[in-house]
Amino acid sequence: MKILSLGSLNIDLVYSVSHINLEGETLSARERETKQGGKGLNQSVALARAGAEVYMAGCVGPDGEELVRTLEDSGVDTGLIRRLEEPSGHAIIQLADSGANSIIIYGGANRKITPEMIDETLARFGPGDYILLQNEISNVDYAIRSAKERGLKVAFNPSPISEELPAYPLELVDVFLLNELEGQTLSGAASEEGSRVLAALAGKFPGAAIVLTLGDKGAMYHGGGQELTCPAHKVPVVDTTGAGDTFCGYFLACTMAGMEPQKALETATRASALAIGKKGAAVSIPTLAQVKNAAFV
Ligand code: RIB
Repeated sequence: MKILSLGSLNIDLVYSVSHINLEGETLSARERETKQGGKGLNQSVALARAGAEVYMAGCVGPDGEELVRTLEDSGVDTGLIRRLEEPSGHAIIQLADSGANSIIIYGGANRKITPEMIDETLARFGPGDYILLQNEISNVDYAIRSAKERGLKVAFNPSPISEELPAYPLELVDVFLLNELEGQTLSGAASEEGSRVLAALAGKFPGAAIVLTLGDKGAMYHGGGQELTCPAHKVPVVDTTGAGDTFCGYFLACTMAGMEPQKALETATRASALAIGKKGAAVSIPTLAQVKNAAFV
């Protein structure tokens, strides 16, 4: 079973600051680093490091070769990535001393993905395969519909939230991987509280499995008649960028490999705990051996 990860590749410009910039404030950054990221790239790396057979599709510009190399170094098949004249997508990330972040993304080549490109890519996949999507590229709604028509299982991380998101054919999604704010937006739940959001999502999308991440409160799962929870590990926070992506990639790779959802939640929780202990997005994603060998208190 293989997985097509159709998503964004970003050059992350990471500014280390004392705190997240306030409205009207001018803030001096201590350091600026360039790293590889984008939710699509990060989740592809996490899938591959967790042992899945991953094919990444997306678009980069002439400045995107390092992004492609990062994927290849992690064992992701990059043969479906297109090179365009448009610059690659990028993200401006403020990384505060607390480990919290604030991110602005510029779509660039990520927003040049057309229905024709999606069809050509999907022609390589069929029933039994998975597609994983986030919300940083163009034509996500088309990709959900086309993938489903071809018999793929659709996993969707609806991040970041956009105005168009509620109009996507979300009833076709097989697995949602999302945080409480995204869950609240999609379900219309009256509160951001995990169990209420999970119940509202389950009511709205009865055919889908739902994986809800709750930051330092852990994660929850609803699907196949089961409702599960998993607490987070208490670890020092260096950088939360990419922790959610690590969770998504690990959870999916584990369940695709036949792991029970409870065990997959635990493995993804361990992986994301390791990711927040290291600076950067893709670079902070641990290998399966590191996840297995990690000792948490
Ligand atoms: O989820 C983290 C990612 O969000 C960063 O790597 C950045 O590129 C943005 O897409």
